[in-house]
Amino acid sequence: MEAAADTLRLYPDPLCGKLRETVAGLHGVTSDRVFFGNGSDEILALCTRAFVEDDGSIGFFDPSYSLYRTLAQIRNAKIQAIALDADCAWPAPDPETADLFLLTNPNAPSGRLYPEAQVEDFCRRARGVVVIDEAYVDFAAAHCMDLAQRLPNVLVMRSLSKSYSLAGLRAGYAVGNPDLIAALFKIKDSYNVNRLTQAAALAALRDQAHMLDNVRRIKATRQKLAAELTAMGFQVHPSEANFLWVKPARPAAQRLYELLKDRKILVRYFPGTGTGEHLRITIGNEEQTERLLAALRAPELDNSTPMS
Ligand SMILES: Cc1ncc(COP(=O)(O)O)c(C=O)c1O
Repeated sequence: MEAAADTLRLYPDPLCGKLRETVAGLHGVTSDRVFFGNGSDEILALCTRAFVEDDGSIGFFDPSYSLYRTLAQIRNAKIQAIALDADCAWPAPDPETADLFLLTNPNAPSGRLYPEAQVEDFCRRARGVVVIDEAYVDFAAAHCMDLAQRLPNVLVMRSLSKSYSLAGLRAGYAVGNPDLIAALFKIKDSYNVNRLTQAAALAALRDQAHMLDNVRRIKATRQKLAAELTAMGFQVHPSEANFLWVKPARPAAQRLYELLKDRKILVRYFPGTGTGEHLRITIGNEEQTERLLAALRAPELDNSTPMS
């Protein structure tokens, strides 16, 4: 690979110039509106340092991405967790007062997509910075990238870990107001995105057709798996992400998680009220999906078999 041949003795571009130009081109913005990170997790951590005072506050919906709470705890920030209802719809919250609000759209773990008008209203009423975390948005029918241009307090964040299937690369970016972007640049490590990642991310971003093909395959499998699970008696929430949020009839979620794990099939289980009755099943490839369905059809796991 060209990037590894002779140039690894050199430091990477600290500004990620080519990558930011490419992202700017993809979203029709100028590159001073783009920040590139070592995965979007790095950008989230930088936001908690750039936009939150030492005795400040961080808000998020609950459930959403579990890292938000951890990052808030690391910052010793006051946590404003707004509970979602059973369908992961959000209540009409009072104007949000947190210094920083982290909003996953589509939501994880539910896969629910909040419409742009609702997100815009929320952001307009928010006192602080709102990060719209669109890690899964390429699997969804709509996105909120426009808000990164229109609203001064908004950053829209994307990841190459999901739709590009490049989690090992560690690449993500944020788009928004140049002042917010400049604040992230001020505090980042000098060389936060290494040379190999910059080269590979550039190639991936320039090949949108490959990403879209990947997304099309995953969405087709999502539709098929949702239909099969529904037929087996699972309650399957509509998903705009690369996973399904499902409630098994029986055995209960935790037991089913354990039974699947015994069979070396890993799904996500989040104990607690609101999440503990559900499993999050990531959409795998055809073979993995068939293995999962075969395991679920086995008599001891069968959802539709009455318990004796
Ligand atoms: C909502 C959400 N945001 C961000 C991330 C992190 O993405 P990255 O791999 O780009 O750090 C994840 C990873 O699971 C996620 O679920």
